[in-house]
Parts: sequence; structure tokens; C-alpha cells
Amino acid sequence: MKVLVVGGAGYIGSHTVYELIRAHHDVIVFDNLSTGHREFVPKEAVFYKGDITKRKDLEAVFEHENIDAVMHFAAKIVVPESVEQPLAYYHNNVEGVRVLLETMKDFNVKRFIFSSTAAVYGEANGVCHESDVLAPINPYGETKLAVEKMIKWVANAHDMHYVIFRYFNVAGADKTLEIGYKVSKPTHLIPIANEAALGIRDHLDIYGNDYETKDGTCIRDYVHVTDLAQAHVLGVEYLNNKDTSQIINLGSNQGFSVMEVVKTLENIHPVKYQYANRRAGDPAILIASNDLAKKILGWEPKLPLSEMIRSDLEFHKRTLINQ
Ligand SMILES: NC(=O)c1ccc[n+]([C@@H]2O[C@H](COP(=O)([O-])OP(=O)(O)OC[C@H]3O[C@@H](n4cnc5c(N)ncnc54)[C@H](O)[C@@H]3O)[C@@H](O)[C@H]2O)c1
Repeated sequence: MKVLVVGGAGYIGSHTVYELIRAHHDVIVFDNLSTGHREFVPKEAVFYKGDITKRKDLEAVFEHENIDAVMHFAAKIVVPESVEQPLAYYHNNVEGVRVLLETMKDFNVKRFIFSSTAAVYGEANGVCHESDVLAPINPYGETKLAVEKMIKWVANAHDMHYVIFRYFNVAGADKTLEIGYKVSKPTHLIPIANEAALGIRDHLDIYGNDYETKDGTCIRDYVHVTDLAQAHVLGVEYLNNKDTSQIINLGSNQGFSVMEVVKTLENIHPVKYQYANRRAGDPAILIASNDLAKKILGWEPKLPLSEMIRSDLEFHKRTLINQ
């Protein structure tokens, strides 16, 4: 298939590009490089620089390429920033997808994969299932839910089919270490812990050790970015074979506590950490059921927590050396 990966120079998008190429698909990457990296796009993929909120930029691709399916990763994703700049988030994350879907409709492209998030579940606690109540508590999550709904209506009106994936915590780097999580201010536990291990920050803060969990620290669901990327390949192949749409969690059915993450890291590299107060709004346990992913796509994550931590650490070291 010829797959257009919008946001394919970013973290998850670039890993998906690698997996699509490994599965022998043709790949076109479209990205404005606002947070993405040109060097993350492999030479096997065609690259177009452009912005999805601009119809003309998209037409430059759709007029030249015979696209079978579109994958969307091109979102702004920082929750506190979304609270400060909601209009920028609505513009990029909602208007951007509206323009993209309109272009797809006009060029008769019928298959769409969209990256959604656990943030649509809002203040969930425990195991999240796709049919749970959706109640985001920040503009980032609201934009994702608004798009989920838009996709549903557009698909209904224009005979499109989609897979919406909801991700939880994504970590790790490709086995080549050519691509990985490269941001100036990480917001996720594993890259932050690795920064503490490498001495880029003084220590890791663990927010709360009095939750009702086995060791008192919060439990979250972690999936290796390569496993996640492979689910997208299965998703697009599913759309090629079936005229139906799905909303699917990409989780592990299993959680790890913050302390388990720290202990796993300590087996690889020493790290300094200290306990801090709980943060407002952090539930004790947030895990994704992956029953549907197993049933529909035959997908479940394969790579262990230690590999998420190790590959992120190695990628980080490599990035530091190349700076
Ligand atoms: N990283 C996570 O843990 C996580 C968790 C849940 C959901 N998600 C979702 O996964 C997707 C990808 O996230 P990521 O972590 O790879 O982020 P990222 O910032 O690394 O990637 C986003 C990419 O999209 C590009 N982009 C942004 N706006 C654009 C626009 N208007 N036009 C063209 N390109 C644009 C950026 O330059 C970047 O390359 C997002 O939709 C995000 O909401 C990520």
C-alpha cells in the first residue's frame, strides 16, 4: 500500500514509518517539522514539508501521489501548554484534521488511522476499556475527543473507514537507535528517569508513595514504541481488507508502578530519586485493556519494560554524543 504518514518526522510517526517500510509498504511523510526531525525520515520514504492546516500544502501531495491510506500523528501534545494555549491546540489538532479529511474526501482517499490518547478517558482509575465514559479534563484531551467524533461523522457521510488508536504511555527507541524520543523538555517518566540516570537532571521526583498500590507508587501502562508502530501497520492492513471501522486501545493489560520502573532502570544504570508530594489529578492506577486489539488485530505488545528503558537510555546517550 502507499501510505501517507502525517507527522511522520515525530517520535511515534517515525517509528511507524520504519515499521511500514519493514513491512514493504510505500511511505510518504508529510510534516511541518515543528517538533519533528528531518533526519528521522529514512531515505526510503518520500518527504514533503507542509502544514495540515493549509489545504495548499496537502494538495501538493495528494495531486502527485496515489495514496491508499492516511495516518495522522501531527498533533500538539503537551497538556499544560494546551491549558495555556487552547486556541492553538484547537487550530492544530482539530482544524488540521478537518482540512486533512476534507482533502482526503476530495481526492477519494478512504482509509484513515488516527492517534488518540488515554486523555479522552479523563479522570479514569483502573482498567480503561474502549466503551468507557469519555470525559477529558484538559484542552489536549478535548481536541482528541472532538476529532474522534468528527472522524465518525465524516466516515459515515463519505463512506470512509478508520481505525482510531488510543495510546497510554509510549517509550523506547528503534533497534537501530537512529530514531527515538528527542525533546528538550521530556514529560514522560522513562525519559525523565533516564535523564536523571545520565546526570542531565539532578534526580528523579516520584510523586507520591502512599497510593493504594503494592508499593505505594502510581501504576501506569507502558508500551514500546516499536510495538505501537507495528499495531499501526496491522491497522492499515486491516482497513485494506475490511470495510469497517474500529476504536482500539493500545495498551499492555498490565501496569508497572513508578518504583518498578526505577528498579528496572537500576538494573541497567544507577539513578538518584526522591519522593515528592502527590500531583493533583494523578489516579493510582491507569491501565489499558488490550482485549480488543488482540481480538481484532491479533496484536499484543512483545517488548518488555527493560527494553523500553534500555533503548531510550542508549538513544539518549547517542543524542548527547552527537550534540
Ligand atoms: N507520545 C505519547 O506518549 C503519546 C501518547 C498518546 C497519544 N499520542 C499521540 O501520538 C501522536 C504523535 O505523538 P508524538 O509523541 O510522536 O509527538 P511528536 O511531537 O513527536 O510528533 C508530532 C509530529 O507532527 C508534526 N506536526 C505537528 N503539527 C503539524 C502540522 N500542523 N502539520 C504538519 N505536521 C505537524 C510535528 O512536527 C511532529 O513531527 C499525537 O497525535 C499524540 O497526540 C502520543
